Amino acid sequence: MRLKTDILVIGSGIAGLSFAIKASRYARVLIITKKESAESNTNYAQGGIATVISPDDSYEMHIKDTLDCGAGLCHKEAVEQIVKNGPELIRELIELGVKFSRDEGKLELGREGGHSQKRIIHAKDLTGKEIERALLYNVKHNNNIKVFEHHSAIDLITEHNFIRKTAPRKRNCYGAYVYDEKKNRIKTVLSKLTIICTGGIGQVYLHTTNPAIATGDGIAMGYRSGCRIGDMEFVQFHPTSLYHGNTESDNAQAFLISEAMRGAGAVLRTRNGKEFMHKYDKRKSLAPRDIVARAIDNEMKKNGDDFVYLDITSLSKEKIRHEFPNIYRKCLSIGLDISKNYIPVVPAAHYGCGGIVSDLNGKTSLSRLFVLGESSMTGVHGANRLASNSLLEALVFADKASKVCEKDVKSISDKYNSSVPDWDASGTINTEEWILISQNKNEIKQIMSNYVGIVRSNLRLHRALRRIKLIRDEIEVFYKKTCVNRELLELRNMVLISYLIIRSALLRKESRGLHYSTDYPKTNKRFQRDTIISNKTV
Ligand code: FAD
Ligand code: SIN
Repeated sequence: MRLKTDILVIGSGIAGLSFAIKASRYARVLIITKKESAESNTNYAQGGIATVISPDDSYEMHIKDTLDCGAGLCHKEAVEQIVKNGPELIRELIELGVKFSRDEGKLELGREGGHSQKRIIHAKDLTGKEIERALLYNVKHNNNIKVFEHHSAIDLITEHNFIRKTAPRKRNCYGAYVYDEKKNRIKTVLSKLTIICTGGIGQVYLHTTNPAIATGDGIAMGYRSGCRIGDMEFVQFHPTSLYHGNTESDNAQAFLISEAMRGAGAVLRTRNGKEFMHKYDKRKSLAPRDIVARAIDNEMKKNGDDFVYLDITSLSKEKIRHEFPNIYRKCLSIGLDISKNYIPVVPAAHYGCGGIVSDLNGKTSLSRLFVLGESSMTGVHGANRLASNSLLEALVFADKASKVCEKDVKSISDKYNSSVPDWDASGTINTEEWILISQNKNEIKQIMSNYVGIVRSNLRLHRALRRIKLIRDEIEVFYKKTCVNRELLELRNMVLISYLIIRSALLRKESRGLHYSTDYPKTNKRFQRDTIISNKTV
């Protein structure tokens, strides 16, 4: 089956939805999304969006905090772009109906690690849910936007799909092959422009705050089509996810305990109740995430503990319930009254700073292909993302891309490339061997968690690489002879993402931001470069 649209948006988180709303003013937009529309990392965002609105704050301060946190690797222009465009785009979100928390009519500002000022606007501790709700409402009432749920992009369509020998060096993206899960068939979606907004990679780790959709599909598709992929070694571990025994099942999502709690006065303690962050950083529990997560990891290893505590008991029950109703309820549901008891927490994979390399307008190295949000590497986050800068980055880059796409879409003819073949499923069979998929998935997660976590070494990375390559080859053989389904697509992408993370980590011969290696414990002042990998076989 063949479909045509002006713009194909892959993913329905903040990046995809906010872009689609803007692009619908001049083009027909089709959004495809892997599960239900709201299911995304965006939907689980708690802390909020960083932006300069307080009279005590300034663009310079937000820029400085972002650059400091990024450990020398942020692209300053990209940082300036998100900071300076933030307030205007927040106003637009409010016009679209997002209801942020207010105090006597004024937007309430929270604080998180690495921020020198209170600048996090939020909707209680359910900011992402509120943003998704409002954006989806606008999308639903927009005649120029169609949404196909339960549709997974498999691969991008570029010249390498139909010109084998003489594929030009400068390639175009003509859309994507898409798996319709409900009808169990593959569609050829042809588009003038394609926008990857598929979110993060957290699911390659055992313990992650990311939902099951976060399998790095867009980045994997981009790599297979020859896009440049950057800074994949910088995987951010959030210091505080709720610990409650073994959550290490197939697609488990760890419950986040927002950093905004530390912003409101919560402190970290070891299992015997002692504070420890003063030993690691003068900002204590409010130091940037890489520092706090490493400190927790170190304390847990030193004391042989499975978790540390977060103590919010200094706040009244009333205040906790008012500011963090979702976290309060969740903890109470497992028998923990956090106004009286410490919360057991552990670090969990949370955010991938790397992705498909993009310019300041979201353009990738492939013509007619854009990338936005967590799948992109814009240079904003450098070696470590500053808290609550991710939603902001997605908003600002979606806005910039929507302006460039208006010109681009008009310049591309209405004649869709007729040489694009439909999906060829010949020679594939339905297999009974699905147990292999869940076993492979768990193996990948084990390898990544054991060898490519918060603290790394050459020995561990090489061990991980050998194992991941073996699994990748097995999966590729299985993939070629098996009818496509979502789990298999995700598995194929997860193993590739793991491979890219390890390869990037091996390229970085220093410790910087989120990448810490015991073999190179120092930051190399001269090595201030992004790690870039591209697929030479296409
Ligand atoms: P997502 O919101 O993840 O959306 C990706 C979309 O792509 C989904 O709809 C998914 O189904 C779809 N998709 C994926 N693969 C495919 C495919 N193959 N085919 C079709 N569709 C596909 N950041 C902040 O700035 N502030 C916060 O307070 C904050 N809190 C967070 C709390 C949690 C628990 C988590 C997990 C993250 C948090 N983050 C926060 C990070 C932030 O939420 C994400 O980085 C951001 O929402 C990413 O938006 P996105 O649109 O790029 O991707
Ligand atoms: C949080 O609420 O702690 C998450 C914020 C973020 O990831 O930016």
